[in-house]
Amino acid sequence: MEIRSSYSSLATTLRSRRQRLAQKITFPVILWSGSPHPRNFPANTFPFRASSHFLYFAGLPLENAAIFLDGERLELFIDEAAAESALWHGETPKREEIAEIIGADAAFPLSELPTRATGAATIALPNPTTYQEQTQILNRAVAPSHTPEGIDRDLAQAIASVRFCHDAGAISELRQAAAVTIEAHKAGMAAAKTAQREAGVRGAMEEVIIAHNLTCAYPSIVTVHGEVLHNGQYHHPLQPGDLLLADVGAETAMGWAADVTRTFPTTGEFSSTQRDVYDLVLAAHDACIDKIHPNVEYRDLHLLAAEVIAQGLVDLGILRGQAADLVATDAHALFFPHGIGHLLGLDVHDMEDLGDLAGYQEGRERSDRFGLGFLRLDRPLQEGMLVTIEPGFYQVPAILADPELRSKYQHVVNWDKLAQFSDVRGIRIEDDVLVTATGGEVLTAGLPTDAEAIEELVKSGGKY
Ligand code: GLY
Ligand code: MN
Ligand code: MN
Repeated sequence: MEIRSSYSSLATTLRSRRQRLAQKITFPVILWSGSPHPRNFPANTFPFRASSHFLYFAGLPLENAAIFLDGERLELFIDEAAAESALWHGETPKREEIAEIIGADAAFPLSELPTRATGAATIALPNPTTYQEQTQILNRAVAPSHTPEGIDRDLAQAIASVRFCHDAGAISELRQAAAVTIEAHKAGMAAAKTAQREAGVRGAMEEVIIAHNLTCAYPSIVTVHGEVLHNGQYHHPLQPGDLLLADVGAETAMGWAADVTRTFPTTGEFSSTQRDVYDLVLAAHDACIDKIHPNVEYRDLHLLAAEVIAQGLVDLGILRGQAADLVATDAHALFFPHGIGHLLGLDVHDMEDLGDLAGYQEGRERSDRFGLGFLRLDRPLQEGMLVTIEPGFYQVPAILADPELRSKYQHVVNWDKLAQFSDVRGIRIEDDVLVTATGGEVLTAGLPTDAEAIEELVKSGGKY
């Protein structure tokens, strides 16, 4: 772990987060950071990522650590590195130094953590080793995070309400993640002209992120098969006429994420069918961003995107009918089968480890409608929230060839017309929008969305 002077304001930020949490709960809390997972032998581990709830209040990606919060008091529990560790890992900061950086009131070895267990709430970690430690130290069942109960549920709700709206420290990190992500996307577009395969573009994008000493916030999606929503393959060749969908985001050292998608022609020129669909996805994207404002229902943005896409597809002759009726019968979801976006913060789908507890306002439940079931956020927007806006159009074989859906929408889709759009497999346009007092600020606005600017970035082949 690196100690930097920029950490000087960290303790103040963390203290104010603790104060905000303390106002919402009456019980003590233990939050674990997690431990690295071995790949084969213990010293060869997968990259470590600390729990986001821990990071939010403790600020640093410490391994094998826990914090105890009692009112505004913070105690850090971490073991000093073993003497032989310096040989392999160099000198690491002492417990007291870490405690000072994060503004802890006291610091102890991990062996003393059980003395704080009585009556403490926690958030279950997905890491099985740490989860076992949680249940052992608390000496009780810890409900999995998607079905929290009792004080763990109360804690999850309190933490979510504190983490919804980002403070100045978080926003500064989120801006950094966004800025590097913009550069990464420009590098990817520039690389597309000469790259042989998707992997070449991915490499150019991730190189920018790594060169800034950041990491990827999620597995990059860089694919000519954009219809596979979370495609994790990079071996396909780039061929003239292909659209490449790149969904790549950086994460800062303190864990704050960006999440951006652009879709561009590998040759630098959209075909007319690609351009038609691209422009309609962009129209949905712009319409939603224009509407972002405190108190606007995020669900209404989803329905707005659905309506713009439905209308656009009617105008192109792909769908038949009135946009409002098409959305009411979920016909838009044949081509836009996911939600308009999600919360963004310390995680790319922020706080989705809590199931829908963070994403859905109390009293609301996910719809089982085809066109609404994948909506991840159903709350009124508040100043300080960061959300993605990511409409898309996809020709997913599993949807369009599904006999039930095909029969249900047989007369709504002009299948012959749709066949003319076979060079449009998947288009998504995704930006990160901070809700401000007066509207929305697109943190990723430095990356163009309009078709000509995108074409130019690809054609310029490196001049960005
Ligand atoms: N990058 C994953 C998503 O956009 O939700
Ligand atoms: Mn996203
Ligand atoms: Mn994304």
